[in-house]
Amino acid sequence: MPLDVIVLAAGQGKRMRSRLPKVLHALGGRPLLAHVLDAARALGARNTVVVHGHGAEQVKGAFAEEKIQWVLQAEQLGTGHAVQQALPCIGGDGEVLILYGDVPLIRPASLQRLVSAAGDGLAVMTAELDDPRGYGRVVRNGSGKVERIVEEKDAAPAERAIREINAGFMALGARRLAGWLAQIGNQNAQKEYYLTDLVTLAVKDRVAVSAVKVEDAAEVAGVNSRRELAALERAYQRREAERLLDAGVSLADPARIDVRGSLECGDDVAIDVNCVFEGRVSLGARVRVGPNCVLRDVSVGADSEVRAFSHLEDSAIGERCQVGPYARLRPGASLADEVHVGNFVEVKASRLGKGSKANHLSYIGDAEVGARVNVGAGTITCNYDGAAKHRTIIEDECFIGSDATLVAPVRIARGSYIGAGSTINKDTPAGQLTVARARQVSLPGWKPPKKTKT
Ligand code: UD1
Ligand code: CA
Repeated sequence: MPLDVIVLAAGQGKRMRSRLPKVLHALGGRPLLAHVLDAARALGARNTVVVHGHGAEQVKGAFAEEKIQWVLQAEQLGTGHAVQQALPCIGGDGEVLILYGDVPLIRPASLQRLVSAAGDGLAVMTAELDDPRGYGRVVRNGSGKVERIVEEKDAAPAERAIREINAGFMALGARRLAGWLAQIGNQNAQKEYYLTDLVTLAVKDRVAVSAVKVEDAAEVAGVNSRRELAALERAYQRREAERLLDAGVSLADPARIDVRGSLECGDDVAIDVNCVFEGRVSLGARVRVGPNCVLRDVSVGADSEVRAFSHLEDSAIGERCQVGPYARLRPGASLADEVHVGNFVEVKASRLGKGSKANHLSYIGDAEVGARVNVGAGTITCNYDGAAKHRTIIEDECFIGSDATLVAPVRIARGSYIGAGSTINKDTPAGQLTVARARQVSLPGWKPPKKTKT
């Protein structure tokens, strides 16, 4: 039977105390809703309908590329009301899976179990929690059958003691869904149309209700507050760390790595503590990353080493390179194989050819650096004249003396030597030493100034 997925994402999330709609808050560097949509996609649904309301344009804008049917719930009158808005978008012939946009870590396999369990009836997903506070509780009758779900705000003290909670996910046939939604009311503590009332209606109609329990509490954890989001972020990072360990990556401490995007690793990669990976990062075989590094949208070739405290963004690093400690690669930095970029060196929109080295205190911006070039300590490419950026070209096998200032546009021809402290604003000839600085003089008979008493 075809499957349609409805995702509820219209709520403001008052308890977040935020201007950002709740489903856009980030978990592992991506919006909560993105995680839910991933799970839906894995099920191969026919339609994915997202009910949005609060921050409508912002939410839609964040998922502009996705194949989603958007439904507006202008007023948030409850989860049952929200699903009702989505009914016109789904086929009447299929199976419906309802997901909550604020419950992000559900595994596709668990959802598959839920859909299978529904059969001709209704299936709800539940979990036993040590601390069930805030969730709807699953009330079972004397013979253990699910009878209804009661929201915490409506629950009697004995019901609040129940530890089996409603995760919020449901699967059932589209026809039954439409029939029951038309019957739910809002006579409850929150004056909302509760989706959870479907359970009571199913029981009344003698339709089978099955509860699919998941073991991992993180899978069903909802995000209603910043505290819950922070706790879930740790759960997510623990999952990511375990995935990396299982794939053969060494982590100095699995509790001290943050992956906010995707991290692909070759064989025998080793990552020290407190590193943050954002966007898409790939590390080749045997790459070592030292402590306290930040890598965003970076690829690192095999056998390269990124040393402590380096900050790399939008860059490509070749094989057998050494970067850092304290290196900064900004967008467009491209290092060929065997390049060394050392401490306090900043590289932006520049390419460094094979075997070139800039080991200390440099700014290399908008430059094309050839192979086997040595960039001395303190060398600066002056790429900006106050209005426009210009390029510096340093051809193969040049030696740039310490503290050289290369005023772009300028070309340092192959094999040039540049004397330390030179300010170069004209192209240099190949294979020659160019020195551009005031001649050193010492003045005989010079006396230091005398202090006058006042
Ligand atoms: C809901 C369930 C509760 C369950 C919990 C699991 C109901 C009545 N209660 O409670 O049993 O234990 O989730 O996390 O369903 N939403 C809309 N439109 C609305 C209201 C909500 O789209 O009018 C969306 C929200 O954006 C959110 C989701 O539905 O993504 C759940 O709403 P929320 O208000 O967080 O429900 P809970 O009180 O957490
Ligand atoms: Ca919630």
